[in-house]
Amino acid sequence: MARGAGELSIDLKYKLYEASVQNHMADIEFIEEEFKRLRKKKAKTLREDFGGTGAMACDWVKRSKSREAWAIDLDPEPIRYGKENHYTRLDSEEQSRMNYIEGNVLEKYDFSTDIVVAFNFSYFIFKKRAELLKYFKRVRKSLNKDGLFFVDIFGGTECFQEIEEETEFDKHSYFWDCDYYNPLNNETLYYIHFKTDGVKYEKVFVYDWRHWTVREIAEIMEEAGFEKVVTYWEGEDDDGEGDGDFYPSNKEENCESWVTYVVGMV
Ligand SMILES: C[S@@+](CC[C@H](N)C(=O)[O-])C[C@H]1O[C@@H](n2cnc3c(N)ncnc32)[C@H](O)[C@@H]1O
Repeated sequence: MARGAGELSIDLKYKLYEASVQNHMADIEFIEEEFKRLRKKKAKTLREDFGGTGAMACDWVKRSKSREAWAIDLDPEPIRYGKENHYTRLDSEEQSRMNYIEGNVLEKYDFSTDIVVAFNFSYFIFKKRAELLKYFKRVRKSLNKDGLFFVDIFGGTECFQEIEEETEFDKHSYFWDCDYYNPLNNETLYYIHFKTDGVKYEKVFVYDWRHWTVREIAEIMEEAGFEKVVTYWEGEDDDGEGDGDFYPSNKEENCESWVTYVVGMV
């Protein structure tokens, strides 16, 4: 049975989303390791851009008493969910170091951080180069000395094919549906659908994006004033599957589908 996204409760919508697409503890571990490796010290402050529910920012503050985090998102709905489900996981001292901001990542804010992250490809929302450059410049100016800007990115030979891919979990299925790809301007339309208890909820999330390439991201970061850009690739296990270990690299073989990180260094 298929139903519209509106029939799914807000609670279930974000529960299914987080269970399907997020692995923010792995992201935090990668950030911690790379900051230490590149800067020879520990990062304290983190700004989670396009933060949605702010799950990552909440766990950032939980991992050390010297840490503070900000999660910025335009949409009050995921922020409300995050305050009810993640902020409440923190004790009162941790809560005093966690800040939700309902706002635009393009705005100027009166705090600076060691780290800014833009994950789950959210910056693909900026379709024009000038818009992405404006955002990257904003991030560059907001970072502390020795700051790092982490983004993730995906690609591969399959990612422009108009296909719907199902991933099954214990109690639900997640569908990543590439509805549309324009080869002349790289604009794409993706949907996320979920199936749970025999009901498929269609178009729960809709992403009207431009699919940027790693090289474009690196060049725009440099133009925005980042001193150096590091690109990464994921190692493989014996079966040829990604092993979760990302290492700095400039040259790799393409494959059907990959996800990786790019880091801009102040
Ligand atoms: C793909 S979701 C990512 C959520 C979260 N970062 C994650 O990893 O799952 C994109 C989020 O970006 C937010 N967003 C879009 N444009 C924005 C902007 N200009 N400033 C702040 N948030 C924005 C949307 O409201 C949405 O919650």
